[in-house]
Amino acid sequence: MASPAKATASKSAAPKKAAAPAAKKAPDATARKHAGSNAAVNILPNINQQQNAPSPTQRYGTVSQRLPIGLSESTRQTSVTMLNQLLADTITLRDMYKKHHWQVVGPTFYQLHLLFDKHYEEQSVLVDSIAERIQVLGGVAVAMAHDVAELTSLPRVPRDREEAPVQVSRLLDGHQRILKNCHDYASKADETGDDGTNDLIVSELVRTNELQVWFVAEHVVDSPLTQAE
Ligand SMILES: [Fe+2]
Repeated sequence: MASPAKATASKSAAPKKAAAPAAKKAPDATARKHAGSNAAVNILPNINQQQNAPSPTQRYGTVSQRLPIGLSESTRQTSVTMLNQLLADTITLRDMYKKHHWQVVGPTFYQLHLLFDKHYEEQSVLVDSIAERIQVLGGVAVAMAHDVAELTSLPRVPRDREEAPVQVSRLLDGHQRILKNCHDYASKADETGDDGTNDLIVSELVRTNELQVWFVAEHVVDSPLTQAE
């Protein structure tokens, strides 16, 4: 036959080369044999699972795809940018509430002192929700006062104490700026399919800010002062 003759010929001509292919073929044959015994079970290890492990450092403005939440990189990037804007504005509004809580004076002091602190606490909850949503999306949340001051869209408030009606006006203006962004961003998150961000903005940010506007706006009243003789 032809094949024994070939084998004999190759052995005599190059005995070292003939040994190598035989050694490579042996594992393949074994693997096929085991797969055939139970083809539905894959016993091969899933290697390189740590390739998506979190990096200890990450640049602000970037997003990682580490968490498998079914959103594309561009969708995450769009949402993180919007959420960082809302975060900076919410931190600023929260701190404005505390400033006014401390500095308020006048006949409505007690009511406003308590109301401003209540709203401060509620805005703090929103701050945490927004920041943690940014982390879930693979982004980096803005955090420090100097970075917040650079990013916020709310006008700078003076250090001085202002009268209560001015405090109220500033708060209502801050709420409105945030709410306008919320409506815009909720639509964008809906368009890109980021339901979690859309829900956060609508269910938490819009609802809370609208309710606070109601309570603060009720203090915008014409209250002429009387003067004691
Ligand atoms: Fe206090």
